[in-house]
Amino acid sequence: MASWTFNINPVDVPNVNTKYRKINTKLPVPESLPLLEKLDKYESVSMHGQMPVVWDKAEGFNVYDAWGNKWIDFTSTIFVTNAGHGNPKIIKALKGVLDKPLLHTYTYASKERVDYLEYLIKNTPKQFEKAFFLSAGTEATECALKLMRLKGYKSGKKKPGIIAVEGNWHGRTMGAQMMGFNQKQKEWIGYLDPNINHLPFPYPWRKEASSNPAKYFRDSIEALMKEKGISPETDLCGFMLETFQGWGAVFYPPEFIQELEKFARKHGMLIAFDEMQAGFGRTGKLFGYMHYGVEPDLICCGKGISSSVPLSAVLGSREVMDLPEIGSMSSTHSANPFVCAAGLANMKEIIEGGLIENSRKLGELFHKRLNQMKDRFPKHISYIQGVGLLAALIFNDENGNPLSELCSVISETCMRRGLLVVHTGRESIKLAPPLMITEEALLEGLSVFEQTIADSIKK
Ligand SMILES: Cc1ncc(COP(=O)(O)O)c(C=O)c1O
Repeated sequence: MASWTFNINPVDVPNVNTKYRKINTKLPVPESLPLLEKLDKYESVSMHGQMPVVWDKAEGFNVYDAWGNKWIDFTSTIFVTNAGHGNPKIIKALKGVLDKPLLHTYTYASKERVDYLEYLIKNTPKQFEKAFFLSAGTEATECALKLMRLKGYKSGKKKPGIIAVEGNWHGRTMGAQMMGFNQKQKEWIGYLDPNINHLPFPYPWRKEASSNPAKYFRDSIEALMKEKGISPETDLCGFMLETFQGWGAVFYPPEFIQELEKFARKHGMLIAFDEMQAGFGRTGKLFGYMHYGVEPDLICCGKGISSSVPLSAVLGSREVMDLPEIGSMSSTHSANPFVCAAGLANMKEIIEGGLIENSRKLGELFHKRLNQMKDRFPKHISYIQGVGLLAALIFNDENGNPLSELCSVISETCMRRGLLVVHTGRESIKLAPPLMITEEALLEGLSVFEQTIADSIKK
């Protein structure tokens, strides 16, 4: 998250009044300050750092405050509202459960849970025979870590080795942070898991990675095994891969992942993809890993899985998913009927409502426009990453130095003009509108974005 702090002193900003955006107050709104001050007073600062907009209502691809301002949302909160904010079908499903009422069942069965599981499994690739529901994404990656190790031990492995990847991120619980690369975020733990190792990421700016990705994988894994004295037959249970690297929407070259798959199969290892940001149509396919032409054993899903309420899941084969003993991997809120109703309505909307196709088709236009921006600002934008309705622009100066501050300024200025973008706190800006956005609104948001880059560079 950002170390940058946004201005909390109201400033005059030009009025905006279009079909999709409205700004008619100072920003931040002076009347919103007492609410923001109370947040500061009563809540851990660890939750803070976001732009000072107090959301009152969010519908489709728009976010509203209580003072008449309206934004186009290019964030989907944070890759969550793929089916659109306040999707009417999700609300109807949630109201159905509320009206029964049936708000909690613990792990007793409910029809909502059965219907959702059946739909989920029938509409995902055949290797996913069972699922397990949780609330947060970090629980799902943590669960995949356990499953890979359980399977490893069952297959006779001597060590619970997991290979994760440089620069990736998997959540904030302990196992997830061990698999994540951010060293600072692990300081609180006080020790490192000796059986979690990280491979270098095949960034497009690493020449040796882009010129021969398969060789880059082979060389990297061999170097790691040699350095750590690892024997994959006995010491390695699985790979944990963020489907694309979050901060910059950086994908691996497919040949890298295909080579990784060969290695995993040869040495009896599982492959898990963390699909938190990539899943549920975001990249123009149901799951992001589908761009690589490989078949993972496990996927960890969250965020866009419900477009709303807290829900996450792990999907895998019957054999692997049934490794934990009866009752040993549930949690109090797992498979709550409320979240299951939302999950089912969301998935139906994404699959049957044409949102994957919209993401793919509009994604082409989206990336065409973004690449025009890269051509227009070659001294500031070095890469446009992503596919479908997912993009990250990476800002570096002509010497390759990161322009993080410029990204913060652009993000804040977009907000003042009625457009919300994902502020990463790094040299990237991420864009991820709800997948039901229209072409007209997408293009309006992109023109605001382009003009804001132009104005911010001039300053
Ligand atoms: C790739 C990835 N994995 C895991 C997580 C953790 O999900 P949650 O915040 O729901 O625990 C996130 C959240 O941002 C994520 O982007």
